[in-house]
Amino acid sequence: MMAARKLFIAPSLLSADFSRVGEEIAAVEAAGADMLHVDVMDGRFVPNITIGPFVVEAIKKAASVPLDVHLMIADPDRFLEAFARAGADILTVHQEACPHLHRTVHAIRDLGMKAGVSLNPATPVATLEDVIADVDLVLVMSVNPGFAGQRFIERSYEKVRQVVSLRERAGRGDLLIEVDGGVSVENVGALHRAGMDMAVSGSAVFSSDDYAAYIASMRIRAAEHTG
Ligand code: DX5
Ligand code: ZN
Repeated sequence: MMAARKLFIAPSLLSADFSRVGEEIAAVEAAGADMLHVDVMDGRFVPNITIGPFVVEAIKKAASVPLDVHLMIADPDRFLEAFARAGADILTVHQEACPHLHRTVHAIRDLGMKAGVSLNPATPVATLEDVIADVDLVLVMSVNPGFAGQRFIERSYEKVRQVVSLRERAGRGDLLIEVDGGVSVENVGALHRAGMDMAVSGSAVFSSDDYAAYIASMRIRAAEHTG
């Protein structure tokens, strides 16, 4: 049996109550969040608009855990520096939004951040073959990006396994595999078993009455599925 890999849990602030986001951040951190997932949408790459660097900077001031910033924006190269200044620790771009992905991931690393690449549900894992050596994280979208609270796409398990195999072939054991969209206590165990290192969860965590109990139950499910 393979040694169990740690599971990181990153609640997505998209489902937090933004009128009191500071309190929400403190609450999920106290509840055991390892990172905060921040969804940036531009109304072009995805059919929704959320927040930009100005609000990310405010989130950074309120946060004590690292910020995992997910850019769902067209032509993200224009904004890498702004998100670095705003305090992103991991910056993830979409493969579909980056014609010069190799250059983009190096630009992210040169700005002192970890570089992530995300794949939409219809984008094959094989498109990362030639850049896997240069990225720190692969984010498998398990819904079509744009909105919280959508139904998990079952095919995502197979995509996670394909990223695991790509990671092995590339000798990149340190690379993190993140899954985003419809992740809950129901599927976190099977996803971790498939190879997910980092679970994003928005509506499931923030609609629970007890964030700490919910995150603890996610960790229990993940532990049941390994070892
Ligand atoms: C979707 C975003 C997700 C979203 C997840 O486009 O990238 O991070 O907030 O929300 P849930 O967990 O509710 O699917
Ligand atoms: Zn996201």
